[in-house]
Amino acid sequence: MFGRIDHIGVAVEDLDAAIELYNQQFEMGEQHREVVEEQGVEAVLLEIGEGHVELLKPLSADTPVGKFLAAKGPGLHHVAYQVSDIDSELERIKVLGLRMIDETPRVGIRGSRVAFLHPKSTGGVLTEIVEPKH
Ligand code: CO
Repeated sequence: MFGRIDHIGVAVEDLDAAIELYNQQFEMGEQHREVVEEQGVEAVLLEIGEGHVELLKPLSADTPVGKFLAAKGPGLHHVAYQVSDIDSELERIKVLGLRMIDETPRVGIRGSRVAFLHPKSTGGVLTEIVEPKH
């Protein structure tokens, strides 16, 4: 079962400009910055309550976020729900017959394990499940 919203993913073209916007206008401080090679992004987590906003800048144009930016421009990219056991959650989702992008978990930011569901199975919303590093 999903626990809570872990983060909202936002695709950006200019990471520093986005950080400045969130810092200056929304008073959300930069919490963590990391290159996540497995997802082809440089990501920044901004703390908001118990969750985060995840700013995503593609490492190159041929990454999923790079293609998203080219097609749609900057903006909301995905929603991520926190789970305590991603392996059993993936099994549950497979049994439901939902289409997956990731059949097995991959490495996410801060050592988390993540998997994406296909937006065709989720009402057009790219959906991520994330098991934080314990
Ligand atoms: Co994410």
